Amino acid sequence: MARVLTGIQSSGRQHLGNILGAILPAIQMSNDPKNEAFLFIADLHSLTSVKDAGLRKENLLATAAAWLACGLDPKKVVFYVQSDLPECTELTWYLNCFTPFPMLANAHSFKDKSNNLSDVNAGLFDYPVLMASDILLYDAEVVPVGKDQKQHLEITRDLAISFNHRYGDTFVAPEVSISEQVMAIPGTDGRKMSKSYGNVIDVFLPKKQLKKQVMGIQTDSTPLEGVKDPDSCNVFALYELLATASQTAEMSNRYRAGNYGYGHAKTALLELILEEFSEARDRFDHFMDHPEEVYAALKQGADKARPIAKQTLLRVRTKLGF
Ligand code: ADP
Ligand code: TRP
Repeated sequence: MARVLTGIQSSGRQHLGNILGAILPAIQMSNDPKNEAFLFIADLHSLTSVKDAGLRKENLLATAAAWLACGLDPKKVVFYVQSDLPECTELTWYLNCFTPFPMLANAHSFKDKSNNLSDVNAGLFDYPVLMASDILLYDAEVVPVGKDQKQHLEITRDLAISFNHRYGDTFVAPEVSISEQVMAIPGTDGRKMSKSYGNVIDVFLPKKQLKKQVMGIQTDSTPLEGVKDPDSCNVFALYELLATASQTAEMSNRYRAGNYGYGHAKTALLELILEEFSEARDRFDHFMDHPEEVYAALKQGADKARPIAKQTLLRVRTKLGF
């Protein structure tokens, strides 16, 4: 049995790229009986950028509702909100006092953000230590993340190993599990789908708004009767991700035959999205209308996580003489 843990930033509503690239693979991983899965919403990390309380609450609810709607089972997964366990911020302080300044100053993600953001706060600088605390607090053995988080995990391992070296066995040094070939789902403009590019497809939107996003997918200007290349078309790329092999082959033939317009392809894509996500959309609406059910699921997760967090903190406090 491996304890697998990962965090999700609640930086906005979850789009098709998040669902196919992160949510569904994580849920699949949590269904493997060899794993004990911990999934949490990293709302303290979001405070480095989102300062508005109402917006943070909205993002938290929509993110949790999306995960539950996509099939996360809170009985199988320890699903919780980072800030519900303040043990995490206490451990962050202890770890801070063992983190060499240059380790954080040289982190790629901090350098990137500090060059590009107007609000460069100390929380942004300390982001990797809070992340180490998320991981070490729960004795996580495997931490699956995308490539961009690799350095943060190396920092976590370094902190765990050097603390153990100095004080004896205290932390589990986690394995880094980087998914190299995470598929990059294209957005409506052909770039990687991302909240920050405004090119998302939000499958949880009401039908009319969803239709507007799908109809807005950029294509070339080949006229209706012209022969089209499926392999260079964003609409086809998205259709292929959701369709069966025979549906994909059929659309590919239509593209190559001509007299099949991009409007037709977009309508087919919209119908497929509505069909594939029909139950998830209903569940999402249900959870958004019944936030108390979402909060109850998250509380259940926090109650399971708390005893583990308390035990780790007790070990650390004892070692440090507090
Ligand atoms: P965004 O770029 O919209 O802000 P995040 O950086 O918050 O998304 O990503 C959350 C998770 O979703 C990460 O695990 C990331 O790898 C995955 N993800 C985001 N966009 C895509 C995409 N276009 N294709 C595949 N996975 C994605
Ligand atoms: N920083 C991660 C991201 O941006 C989210 C995160 C916070 C995380 N704490 C974590 C991921 C702990 C894995 C483990 O995607």
